[in-house]
Amino acid sequence: MSDSDKDIKNLKLLISEKEIQDKLDEMAPKIEECFPPDEDIYTICVLKGSVIFCSDLVKRFKHNVQMEFIRISSYGNETKSSNNLQAIDLTLPNLNNKNVIIVEDIIDTGLTARFLTDLFKIKHHPKKVLFVSLLNKKCARQIEIEPDFYGFEIGNKFVAGYGLDYKGYFRNLPYIGYFES
Ligand code: IMP
Repeated sequence: MSDSDKDIKNLKLLISEKEIQDKLDEMAPKIEECFPPDEDIYTICVLKGSVIFCSDLVKRFKHNVQMEFIRISSYGNETKSSNNLQAIDLTLPNLNNKNVIIVEDIIDTGLTARFLTDLFKIKHHPKKVLFVSLLNKKCARQIEIEPDFYGFEIGNKFVAGYGLDYKGYFRNLPYIGYFES
């Protein structure tokens, strides 16, 4: 990694592994309650950042679940949103009249969340769609949008770990840390 100040030694703990896992125990049943117990749920994992959150969340669901994946990039290698979304792969099966949960790692400016909620309404016509995010950086919002469920509200810090990366690194950490500026 070229940027030495973004070394793991400078990553300060923000949310511990236990706090994350406890939060998922609390969130999962509340999310599931929004759907009839005998109906399937389709989770849409927004790659790459949501991969670990989504995997841990679906393990707690009692419904029959189908996992789908889309890939969007907005940060590139920077620690500020580029405001320039890159839809890398939006391939999905027919979700017409299905129960859908869009699973995001973090809502920052809100641009990705707005793009996704519009996309699902206009293109996929699900029966019901929920937007779930592990983290909510409300103070960085450029667009008025809120998730249906979120785990933790955080300040305007760049965070990494538990799926979130800096320059492709730190996704494998079981906790979330922040870089002191
Ligand atoms: P938004 O479109 O600005 O809301 O940003 C959404 C995406 O930006 C997220 O799905 C993340 O991939 C990325 N992102 C936003 N904030 C952070 C951060 O603090 N660390 C790592 N990635 C972030």
